[in-house]
Amino acid sequence: MGGVEEAIVRAAQFFSNDAAVVCLTGAGVSAESGVPTFRDAQTGLWSRFDAEELATPQGFERDPGLVWRWYMWRLEQVGAAAPNPGHRALAELARLCEAFLLVTQNVDDLHEQAGSADVLHLHGSLFNFRCAACAAPHHLTVEERGADSPPACGLCGDLVRPDVVWFGESLPWDAVEEAAAAAHGCDVMLVVGTSGLVYPASQLPLVARQGGAMVIDVNPEPGPISSIADIFLLGKSGEVLPALARAVRELRAEL
Ligand code: OAD
Repeated sequence: MGGVEEAIVRAAQFFSNDAAVVCLTGAGVSAESGVPTFRDAQTGLWSRFDAEELATPQGFERDPGLVWRWYMWRLEQVGAAAPNPGHRALAELARLCEAFLLVTQNVDDLHEQAGSADVLHLHGSLFNFRCAACAAPHHLTVEERGADSPPACGLCGDLVRPDVVWFGESLPWDAVEEAAAAAHGCDVMLVVGTSGLVYPASQLPLVARQGGAMVIDVNPEPGPISSIADIFLLGKSGEVLPALARAVRELRAEL
């Protein structure tokens, strides 16, 4: 890891016992679990599939079966994935800090599987479903998972859809409000595996910076977040985050 080792030790010093930490994660944190990101050139979902067709309310209206089958494929893929050392290191960092809020743009459940509690999901969850019209929650049966088209809502009969945020839709307001308030008041904003291109999650590191926080970015590629970060930890989260958690532990042991 070379010069990154030194930067990790520098970053670890900001994770004091009483520091208020907010961590924002994106698809990159799950990449090493085999879950594809969205914008990576070869493997990214939006490099291989049309977001307009698959992740907009208009796309769902035009061809609900196509959207359903695509989300069932993703559900299967994510359901078979296991948390990686990056997810586990974030759960450990949370245990080492008094105030640690994990905010994710991911629709998988790998943070929870790794032991993180109270994760704020800004873009919903692949495991939740609701009626497209009346928003009533829907519990999927095994048959519905294998079906070619979405089931009907038990209450109003309209189509059931994945409870994820599509392009052009609003995020869950309470989650955004909680994340923004925490970002504004935090001491450390740890950003992991996001391209920082999707609003409003992309604003959280800026809000934190304006509030006086130290911004630390973990990513194998430089991008808009690394350019505003105080410390850029260049590398994969599955390697950098365990090293960061270890450095925090070692600093605590010295005290
Ligand atoms: P992107 O695909 O835009 O970005 C993934 C980021 O992860 C890139 O910056 C990669 O360099 C980085 N990355 C790749 N491998 C990594 C690794 N092993 N460790 C750490 N980082 C790695 O994904 P997001 O930023 O999450 O929204 O995208 C934001 C939103 O756009 C998603 O939540 C999704 C998408 O459209 C919705 O579906 C609403």
